Amino acid sequence: MSLETIIYRQFDIANNNAVEIELPKYKIYAMCNLRGGIGKTTLSFNLSYLADDLLAVDTCPQGNLSYFYDKDYYAGNQTNVKDMLLPYLVPGLGKATRVASFIGATNEYFSDKNNFYIPSSEELYLLPSQLITAINQTAGLQQSQKQLALKSILYSLETEIKRELSENSLDKCIIDTSPFFAGATQLAWYAADALVIPVRTDQQSIKSLELLINILTNPQSEFRKYLPENDMNVPKIQMVVLTHCGWSTVAGARNEPNQQTKLYLKKVYDILSKNRTLLSTRNPENHLFMLDDFLGSGRISSFESKPMELLKEGETKVIDRLRVSVNKSVDKCKNQLKFISNQLW
Ligand SMILES: Nc1ncnc2c1ncn2[C@@H]1O[C@H](COP(=O)(O)OP(=O)(O)OP(=O)(O)O)[C@@H](O)[C@H]1O
Ligand SMILES: [Mg+2]
Repeated sequence: MSLETIIYRQFDIANNNAVEIELPKYKIYAMCNLRGGIGKTTLSFNLSYLADDLLAVDTCPQGNLSYFYDKDYYAGNQTNVKDMLLPYLVPGLGKATRVASFIGATNEYFSDKNNFYIPSSEELYLLPSQLITAINQTAGLQQSQKQLALKSILYSLETEIKRELSENSLDKCIIDTSPFFAGATQLAWYAADALVIPVRTDQQSIKSLELLINILTNPQSEFRKYLPENDMNVPKIQMVVLTHCGWSTVAGARNEPNQQTKLYLKKVYDILSKNRTLLSTRNPENHLFMLDDFLGSGRISSFESKPMELLKEGETKVIDRLRVSVNKSVDKCKNQLKFISNQLW
């Protein structure tokens, strides 16, 4: 019954006439799931275009989101997210300020958006051990000092994001995370008010969703074990976005997900139903959205660092000597992205 509601709503979303869901709205979202290649960065990039006065933070050492914003990113000379975090972990380093850059300066498609970003750094691969060392060093302190020191470390990214939001007069933030929990992803979870979780239509993504929920709920998890009992500031799940969805091509099937999509839709729905208290409204129907396979449009969008919203059906591009075109379902994908964006801010 309820899966039907979700599927019917997708039909209305595709046609841009779905009724808004009254979800609570938050300021800081982390885009995460503990699996690679499922669409975290692609979704972060596109959502960052659809909002204004937004700060995008790249906490993934691969730096894919940073590269979307700046083709020169891998030259590696910007002040970055690691420079913001290190002073909280290593004594003696001065704190960074005004780290965020105007995205429009390096990506022309963002030139009329008041949106900023904080670049990543390859050195974030070292952050997990630096973070654990810093946390362990608090162990020898007396209880009240220990709590203060731990809080400063765990909420370092949150403190820095809030400072950057205020310094740049911004009011929305999306944090793209890596597929690994330790390090900056962990800090992103402490910083976030709520999570956006892409899940690809495959079994590994379902496993990683279950793992994510375990980390969120298990008192012994790496995430929860450092939080004081009276400070269980656990981010809500705002939505799961099932990515790479496909639809039936059988004649007469107007709005029927294909078998694989339907199977994984049901699996995600069942997991959400079992974990209602983690959802920002407790009703799983309100928190599950579908995003189609972007096909050629996705390839052109990534190749040109151009948001999907700006692509037009029929546009073509030669990529790796192959002619790729913006497929006719691009408007459907744009409407799906816009609806998702409207449920966040
Ligand atoms: N909805 C989609 N339809 C088709 N292709 C997609 C979609 N979303 C992402 N992709 C493609 O899938 C690949 C991985 O996407 P992306 O980099 O966004 O994943 P990720 O979860 O951020 O990966 P990682 O964990 O490595 O950072 C890219 O080639 C991207 O273009
Ligand atoms: Mg990524």
